[in-house]
Order: sequence, then structure tokens, then C-alpha cells
Amino acid sequence: MTTSQAGSVKLANGSSIPAIGLGTWQAPPSEVEGAVATALREGYRHIDCALIYKNEAEVGEGIRQSGIPREEIFITSKLWNSFHPNAVESLNRSLKDLGTDYLDLYLVHWPVRLVPNESSELLPVNADGTRAIDRDWDMGKTWAQMEDILASGKVKAIGVCNWSIPYLEQLKKGWRSKPLVNQVELHPHLPQHELVEWCKKEGILVEAYSPLGGAGGPILSDPDVVSIAEKHNVSPANVLISYHVNQGVVPLVKSTSPSRLKSNLQTVSLDESDMKKLNRLSSQPGKAKRYNTPLFGWDLGFDDWYGPPKKEH
Ligand SMILES: NC(=O)c1ccc[n+]([C@@H]2O[C@H](COP(=O)([O-])OP(=O)(O)OC[C@H]3O[C@@H](n4cnc5c(N)ncnc54)[C@H](OP(=O)(O)O)[C@@H]3O)[C@@H](O)[C@H]2O)c1
Repeated sequence: MTTSQAGSVKLANGSSIPAIGLGTWQAPPSEVEGAVATALREGYRHIDCALIYKNEAEVGEGIRQSGIPREEIFITSKLWNSFHPNAVESLNRSLKDLGTDYLDLYLVHWPVRLVPNESSELLPVNADGTRAIDRDWDMGKTWAQMEDILASGKVKAIGVCNWSIPYLEQLKKGWRSKPLVNQVELHPHLPQHELVEWCKKEGILVEAYSPLGGAGGPILSDPDVVSIAEKHNVSPANVLISYHVNQGVVPLVKSTSPSRLKSNLQTVSLDESDMKKLNRLSSQPGKAKRYNTPLFGWDLGFDDWYGPPKKEH
């Protein structure tokens, strides 16, 4: 059975977050305004943005063009890596570009500080071409600023992205307000069961990015996903989106195509055997895969904190 209303889920502070979000990464500025306006008219009420996507001004235009009142829309943005010592500056830029005076959710984009230099403000590199990373930066200092931002009322909730369990454990030692959300890459080829369980136990909502495996993602043609889609008479994308909605994880799905924007809102009730199959997919040989490799690279030591994709059951 399909339903066009995925509803909403609760954050630990009692507020609601719409169960499916619209992704805006790699949505070209020339297309994203129209896509956001179309999405809002189709029923989306949750938009996932970030300063580094370099399209927040156009997203803001799309919101205004839709005619949907600001207070009916859940807007997320993210503190970019080169602003860790000055989180408010990153926030203010996003607020200005989006044309709003508050965010519903503000996330730390990566537990990685990049040091701006003459090569670039947002993606600086060293003379030898490697990313200019400050490996000694204390993420507790970033989080303390996020807590101050929350207290200022400019954002209604704060959280993180791409935080592994060891990083969360470390953050927990000093947090005054816990992160309400951890946004990570999540799909049947990278289900991160352990991390999802940890977050659930702590009352941290998990958001799934790249739920379709990103642009050209091979999960959409995975034979098991396709067979479940045929069984329910829906598209593979509907199965992958429903996989999260069925377990209280919030998927963020990017599209700029009017027809896909509409069809991606359809969810289906997956049964136990479907969920079992999807949960075990990454344990099949060659299936476990991370599709999002940030420009600052796993080769620069990120496996140490985030871990390479591994087989999970
Ligand atoms: N926090 C982070 O570090 C982080 C990292 C990555 C992503 N994100 C967030 O998560 C969002 C989603 O992730 P993503 O953009 O990587 O990937 P995604 O949503 O998994 O996949 C997007 C791709 O799938 C296509 N698509 C959409 N609907 C489809 C359908 N029904 N059938 C076939 N193809 C379809 C889109 O093309 P069309 O546009 O042509 O439809 C696009 O190429 C991002 O936009 C961003 O907001 C956050």
C-alpha cells in the first residue's frame, strides 16, 4: 500500500520534523529555485541546505516563490568546516542568503576544521595540494558555540553530521545540550546499524543522506531493491526512501525533476522480510559501499574516525 503522506517524527525536544526532507546538494543554482517552489507546492515541508552548497540564496527565492508561509517549513542549514572558530559567521551568512531570521535545525557539517588561506575560503589547500586541515582543533569548542547559538534563539535545534560513535562519545563528555540529530550517509549498502542504534539509545534522530546512493547510484538497480519494488508496484527509489521512513530515520532526497519530486513523496509499508533483506544487503560480497567521499578525502586520515565501509548484518 502506498501513501502520499509520510507524516512527521519527533525530535527529543518535542518538536516535529517532517519525515522526508528535500536535499539541495548539487542542485544547480539555476534549477534549485524552481525545484524548491515545486517541491513545496507538492507537499514537502522540510528542506536540507548548507552554506557549502552555494545555492542558499536560490533556495530562499524558491521558498518565497512557493507562497508557503515560512513557519510551515522546516529549514536546516550547516556550519561549514572553515568556520569552526566562528560558527555565528557561517550561520549569519546562511540566514541572510536563505532570507530568514531563524533556522529549524543547524548542524555541524563535518567534525573537521579546514583552515582558510589565500588558496580558498571554503576549501583551502596547503602548498603541496593537500587540504588545509587543523587536526588539533577541539570539536568541543565548536559545540559550545552551537549551544550558544541555540540559546540565542536564532536556531530551534542543533545537531551534527558525519559524527561516528567515538566522536559522539567524546562530544558527550562536555555537551550541555546534546545534538538532536546526526545526519549521515545511510542506505542498504551502508546501513551503519551500530551507529543508528547508538543514536536511538541517546535520543538522537538519525537523518539519512544520499538515500538513493547519490547521482547515478547503483543501489537503484540493485536486484534485491528492484524485486522489492516490483512486489509492491512502486519504484526502487520509493523502496529506498521507505526503508528509512519505516524505521523512524528521516531521509533527505535530492531531485530537481518535477516528476521525481512528486513520486519521491510516495512511501510504502515494507514488511519484515523486505526489511530483513535490505538490512542484510551490505553483507553480500562487494555490496558494502560509501558513495560520498568528501573532497578533503578519506585518504587524509578520515578512516581513523569514521571507519571505512564494512560488512554489517
Ligand atoms: N551532511 C552531509 O555531509 C551531506 C552529504 C551528502 C548529502 N547531504 C544531503 O542529502 C541530500 C541527498 O543526498 P544526495 O544528493 O547525495 O543523493 P540522493 O538524494 O541519494 O540522490 C540524488 C540523485 O538521485 C536522482 N534521483 C532523485 N530521485 C530519483 C528517482 N526517483 N529515481 C531515480 N533517480 C532519482 C537525482 O537526480 P534528479 O535531480 O535529476 O532527480 C540525483 O542525481 C543532499 O542533497 C544533501 O541535502 C548531506
